[in-house]
Amino acid sequence: MLEKYLLQMPQKVFGGRNALENIKSIVSDKNRIALFTDKGIQATGLISEITRHLGEKEITVFDELPSEPTCDQAQIIADEFKKKEFDLLIAAGGGSVMDIAKLASVMAGSDYRIRDLLEDQQIMKKGIETLMIPTTAGTGSEATPNSIVAVPEKELKVGIVNSSMIADYVILDDVMIRKLPRKIAAATGLDALAHAIECFTSNKSNLFSDTFALEALDLILNNIEPACDDPEAFDAKNAMLIGAFYAGVAITASGTTAVHALSYPLGGKYHIPHGIANAMLLVPVMKFNEPACRNRFARVYDRVVRNGKASGTDGEKSEWIIRRLEEIVKHLDIPGSLKEYGVGSKDIDQLVEAGMKVQRLLQNNARTLKAEDAKKLYSEIL
Ligand SMILES: NC(=O)c1ccc[n+]([C@@H]2O[C@H](COP(=O)([O-])OP(=O)(O)OC[C@H]3O[C@@H](n4cnc5c(N)ncnc54)[C@H](O)[C@@H]3O)[C@@H](O)[C@H]2O)c1
Ligand SMILES: [Zn+2]
Repeated sequence: MLEKYLLQMPQKVFGGRNALENIKSIVSDKNRIALFTDKGIQATGLISEITRHLGEKEITVFDELPSEPTCDQAQIIADEFKKKEFDLLIAAGGGSVMDIAKLASVMAGSDYRIRDLLEDQQIMKKGIETLMIPTTAGTGSEATPNSIVAVPEKELKVGIVNSSMIADYVILDDVMIRKLPRKIAAATGLDALAHAIECFTSNKSNLFSDTFALEALDLILNNIEPACDDPEAFDAKNAMLIGAFYAGVAITASGTTAVHALSYPLGGKYHIPHGIANAMLLVPVMKFNEPACRNRFARVYDRVVRNGKASGTDGEKSEWIIRRLEEIVKHLDIPGSLKEYGVGSKDIDQLVEAGMKVQRLLQNNARTLKAEDAKKLYSEIL
């Protein structure tokens, strides 16, 4: 547990029914709007839910954004964006779109490049106001100061972190996630779950982050299946959207741990989607962590279980939480083996070497994780 803590959040967060209507007031004193999104979201027609609130504003749409960008792909978009002047940058998308938008927002009016930020994250400063509208639930990127990019030569994903990337405005409107395909809803929902449970069990956890992580766990553990399975489960989808946002706030105040650390090489080298990589590692890592996190898992149980609560021991409650995680991963049809992504036993040593480099997150893990532990964990999901 940290003894000193800090809570940083976007300035204004709009939620609830018809939250998108708030766009009108946000843009009232702005004329030139840049709108970042991707082709997958364009294809759903969802962007008109945003543009219809923009009236006569001058809108430039950037929709060539790649999924899970490399630092150089993000730079190409930022360069394109910098050719014109804008008053507001709107990002409507999942973590990929929001992360690129966050980087572009600190490039406006500055000469440094993303590769410079990989070396020194302190040089960046805010160049333009941002509005984040997540379309997955989700990475929580709309809440965090983080932008995650793949660095090809390192075969890793790397987090660029600076408070200047925290959004000015966020709109959480479940209209944006209603048609999310089940597979994407499952992977991104499990990413949010991983954020919440990792932050709650992190060495960096504290009274601020616990508030958000526990509420996120309550919302996510009690809604993730219907939100993914049932197209009409609007309340469950809204709960996931808020839960993912709270989990993002928890990341900002605390930090993720070994699930995310070990998943970075799976994304960086094998291009396994971020949510899937975390979902595959979630149960093995939490089982490994259990002896050091028993009391914390018991607290999660006390918070999230409503009916049939047993007055069990911490050990029993902790076991229940692990079983519940297993049940969710199975129910949501998360691939069981890295082989599906072309990873074989010959690749494990390299994965371990890359994963062990993510000390920024491994240091947060409640149970010390050594290279031989990482090897066992990767082997379990082979
Ligand atoms: N900055 C942070 O704090 C943070 C935290 C976690 C993850 N991330 C990063 O976020 C990225 C992953 O983001 P993601 O999981 O949200 O996925 P994503 O943004 O890569 O999107 C995945 C796919 O879903 C589609 N999609 C998104 N919304 C949709 C909708 N409403 N309907 C239909 N299709 C839709 C997209 O077109 C895309 O093809 C990774 O690069 C990861 O490293 C960032
Ligand atoms: Zn994540």
